[in-house]
Amino acid sequence: MLIITSANSAKSRLKARRMCGISGVVLTTGEVGPLLLDSLKRLEYRGYDSVGVATVVNGKILLKKDIGKIGEVESKLRIGELSGTTGIGHTRWATHGAPSRENAHPHTDCNGSVAVVHNGIIENFMELKQQLEAAGHVLRSRTDTEVVAHLVEENLKLKIGLVEAVRRAALKLTGAYALAFICADEPEKIVCVRKESPLVIGVGSGANYLASDIPAFLPRTRTALLLEDDEMAVLTCNQVLVMKVESGEVVAREPFTVEWSVETATKGGFPHFMLKEIYEQPLTVRNALRTQPIYLELMASALSRASRIFLLACGTSYHACVAATYGFANLAKVEVTPVIASEFIDAYGALVDKDTVVLTVSQSGETADTLTAVRGAKDRGATILGLTNVMGSTLTRLSDVYIGQNSGPERGVAATKTFTAQYAVLIKIALTLARKRNTVGSADLQRFEDGFNQLPQWISGTLSSQKDNVRRIVEKNSDKISFCFLGRGISVATALEGRLKLLELSYLPAIAYPAGESKHGFISVVEEGYPVIFVAPQDEAYSKIIGNVMEMKARHAHIVSLVEGNDDQVAPLSDEVIQMPSAVPPLLTPIVFIVPLQLFAYGMAVTKGYDPDFPRNLAKSVTVH
Ligand code: AGP
Repeated sequence: MLIITSANSAKSRLKARRMCGISGVVLTTGEVGPLLLDSLKRLEYRGYDSVGVATVVNGKILLKKDIGKIGEVESKLRIGELSGTTGIGHTRWATHGAPSRENAHPHTDCNGSVAVVHNGIIENFMELKQQLEAAGHVLRSRTDTEVVAHLVEENLKLKIGLVEAVRRAALKLTGAYALAFICADEPEKIVCVRKESPLVIGVGSGANYLASDIPAFLPRTRTALLLEDDEMAVLTCNQVLVMKVESGEVVAREPFTVEWSVETATKGGFPHFMLKEIYEQPLTVRNALRTQPIYLELMASALSRASRIFLLACGTSYHACVAATYGFANLAKVEVTPVIASEFIDAYGALVDKDTVVLTVSQSGETADTLTAVRGAKDRGATILGLTNVMGSTLTRLSDVYIGQNSGPERGVAATKTFTAQYAVLIKIALTLARKRNTVGSADLQRFEDGFNQLPQWISGTLSSQKDNVRRIVEKNSDKISFCFLGRGISVATALEGRLKLLELSYLPAIAYPAGESKHGFISVVEEGYPVIFVAPQDEAYSKIIGNVMEMKARHAHIVSLVEGNDDQVAPLSDEVIQMPSAVPPLLTPIVFIVPLQLFAYGMAVTKGYDPDFPRNLAKSVTVH
């Protein structure tokens, strides 16, 4: 029996991918309804725009689902009162298909004899859907998930049983998924399968559980086992069987004991949501890069017809827009104007007309300043494109075309994973537009594809190699009363975002500047030991930033530099060095170089005794002007 004491081992093995929460319970006797309801409440931090439960009773699937938070749906539908000893449940964070009753999970096949819940993204669902519809299946929702219920239905026609039907269906899927199935004809079991999305089994006595995360069943059992990628499990009330999807071969798996409290488990073993969300970025960036090409094409078409393009947002989202400006110019050879939403109408209202496209970025999709600017642009005939993390938000309703960035709920008020995901989608849009305008060659495109594939490792590599170094730099500078962040080229956006994180979490007056501009004013502030943080990747601007580092050194500033591993020009001039991966394509550096600055701000807040999740005077979504 393996004992889980330190968060690290379980945390690294769980790799939480935040999108939805799935749950399953199979009992010897009793009703699963109340247990499923309770487990979903414990998973609500993973998604809360729609909820549903399905059980098997007397050879029939009973299903209740609707749009809304668990409490609201429970009071309407009494999902907790569903009877049966076998059931599955789901709390949703919409990625494909806005929140609606049809798009809520569980989804079923044509005759309602198979039900499925899902967390993740089925990348090839469009083509599977076309094949199934051609074979006569009727799909009722706009989700990627429903396709899988019909795939299993198709396999069951071969009289191979639910386990084999699920295995064969899983072999046809690409993407990330944790799926759980029940079937009217096999009421005693739940079959689940996993690839990348988290799925953990709770081992009870006379009962077994599955969930996206441990908190769901922790009040009932502390004995758990993890499914690895490309594995599936069959749960009955007194057995858990783990198998390989590829071969169907049974695998022996050692259960472990969870010692975490429910609260710690909800944070995945991290002390704060913000730190958990910083560590989610290798996966949330990959998620964002999985945006369906059809939506990128729709955005690029609208942009290619525009006579004027604005990138509109507030706060961190605005910094993603500033970074994207470099991408649109250098890749698609298109001029876009990043604008702070509260200034948009005053500054540019007179220029907005029917040939204007406004690409609006908002994590929450509810920021009042952003929505007002969007409405002003719409009134002037502009086309509105939306990029948000909340499907069904007001921005999605105001947009002509919108994309969900698939980051999952962000609980920390300070935006972290949503910044890197936003910028990842924006650079994908710029690349799609560049391909449409033929302004990038195949070699460039390949370099970006390779870069996209390496981003998760560059981020996780930076987290593991620099976290202690950043903590040391925080401790050494925690008495400083102000900081300045400098960058050139696209790193101006990284410096701006690094500054915002420190400012909003440590309440220290921090400054950010294009490094070249620093000698036109800021430099007068610099004195012995004043901390200046340079974002200095070896891109086109590198040769010029060396001079700026020397200017600060000459005035005895305390220089902290983010430089590539093989740096031999800026590093020797610096008092502290944060080593970053080499050869990150310049237009992708904001996604990697922001990570140690997020850790720096988090560390400074904790060192000063502030709560990094809920900084004073701030709200996660600013819905007032
Ligand atoms: C960033 O950490 C802040 N939470 C804040 O600046 C935020 O980015 C801004 O309010 C915009 O929010 P939105 O992306 O939800 O529109």
